[in-house]
Amino acid sequence: MSDQKINILMVDDRPENLVALEAVLMSPKYNLIRANSGEEALKLVLSEDFSLILLDVQMPGLDGFETANLIRQRKKSKNVPIIFITAINQANEFVIKGYKIGAIDYIIKPFHPDTLKLKIQGYLKVYQDRESLEIVVQERTSELKSANQKLLQEVNKREVIAEKLMASNKKITNILESISDAFISVDNSWLLTYINKEAVGLFGLFNISPEGLIGRSIWDLIPETIAPKFYDQLNEAINSKKRVHFEIEAPDLKHSFYDVNAYPFFDGLSIYFRDITEIKRLEKEMTQIDRLNTVGKLAAGIAHEVRNPMTTVRGLLQVLASKEECSKYNEYFPLMIGELDRANSIITNFLSLAKDKFIEFKKQSLKEIVENLFPLIQADAMVSGKYINMDLEEVLEIPLDDEEIRQLILNLVRNGLQAMSPGGNMNIRTFMTKEEIVLAVQDDGKGIAPEVLKKIGTPFFTTKKDGTGLGLAVCYSIAAKHNAKIDIETSAKGTTFYVRFNKI
Ligand SMILES: Nc1ncnc2c1ncn2[C@@H]1O[C@H](COP(=O)(O)OP(=O)(O)O)[C@@H](O)[C@H]1O
Ligand SMILES: [Mg+2]
Repeated sequence: MSDQKINILMVDDRPENLVALEAVLMSPKYNLIRANSGEEALKLVLSEDFSLILLDVQMPGLDGFETANLIRQRKKSKNVPIIFITAINQANEFVIKGYKIGAIDYIIKPFHPDTLKLKIQGYLKVYQDRESLEIVVQERTSELKSANQKLLQEVNKREVIAEKLMASNKKITNILESISDAFISVDNSWLLTYINKEAVGLFGLFNISPEGLIGRSIWDLIPETIAPKFYDQLNEAINSKKRVHFEIEAPDLKHSFYDVNAYPFFDGLSIYFRDITEIKRLEKEMTQIDRLNTVGKLAAGIAHEVRNPMTTVRGLLQVLASKEECSKYNEYFPLMIGELDRANSIITNFLSLAKDKFIEFKKQSLKEIVENLFPLIQADAMVSGKYINMDLEEVLEIPLDDEEIRQLILNLVRNGLQAMSPGGNMNIRTFMTKEEIVLAVQDDGKGIAPEVLKKIGTPFFTTKKDGTGLGLAVCYSIAAKHNAKIDIETSAKGTTFYVRFNKI
């Protein structure tokens, strides 16, 4: 900057004044430029940069004040220092006006040349210092700006990373929420850090919002006393820093079983619960079925021996019942015969349960089997004061074991009759759909409660005082042997069992 000349604009309508000023200011450091009017000065200000403007006040056309005003209005020249020079307007108010416009000095002629020179040098220095300061400020500002820019970029980058993290976090959360396993995580002080929907359900924590659960101690939510095994095992996991694996029975009424895995990590535990209720149930059923199979085989071995004497006794009871002299015991005969029939039916049911029981398929009509059973069913119904209605459509003949099918029908009919109150109506139908031959046994009893419905068909499951819980297990087993399906429709108005056989 120092090797560059300083531009100074001198404005005066009188050339002799300009010459005089030039003589005073002449210096190799300055580049002195003249303007003869305010208008010319304005033009020059537009095209050049000046470090100082010396402005005559009294001029034709634009006077010094007007010129200064216009110079100030332009952005480019807004800050250039202006010094007014005048011989005439010495009045105080003019001086004040000059300062108001933004002049840095108001010099009154005649001036002392050296003083003027020194003054101007002084002003220029101040102005230049200010300019260099501004440059420094500008440099700093731009440094700051670029640092700021970098920071912003950094912030943006982090935001992108944070977004990605959030997205992947969300993915994990979605996975944890969509699995059917329950999942919770706790920190080293047993405070919940995460709990998924399933876990909320498992522990019955619906009444607390999921956000409200986070940060709570799990032993507040699941007291040690209701789940002591859970407590011991989790403590074991946290102390040993090793995975633990165990089974628990959920502290609910559903008797659900869970397979639990607890994995320690650096600042806590993550715990997974897999519902194994169904597996447990199947395991139990499998052993039961095995047992039944054995029972069935045993029954097959003794059935003949037991049934023969029973048939004889039954026949003799019928004979005695018709004798005049036995008439005073008349009310006992049906009871005795009924009990024998019950015993017989238990044996028959056991027989049906033997897996390798010999079955004899013969092409025949389901409708005919039902028709032939009518007298027996009718008798059963009458004893308990109930009515049977049969609505039997012709159906295609299909391979059936008639003994087994009779068993199936009787079991369904007896359940229905037992479910009905005296005076109730039972409807037995056979019909065909496009693909199936259907037997429907409909009662107007009290229906089957959902918790009973779930267990229906499980051997030995009964809700009756003297029930065996074998009837439906046998029905399912017979249906399976015939490739048939059993559907149940039930409501408070009654129950319908559908047995659906394939047409071919
Ligand atoms: N038609 C029905 N209406 C209402 N409940 C039924 C019906 N059929 C079966 N059940 C229910 O299913 C249970 C099991 O039936 P089942 O296997 O035949 O054994 P049981 O008749 O010896 O109890 C019954 O105890 C009863 O609670
Ligand atoms: Mg039954």
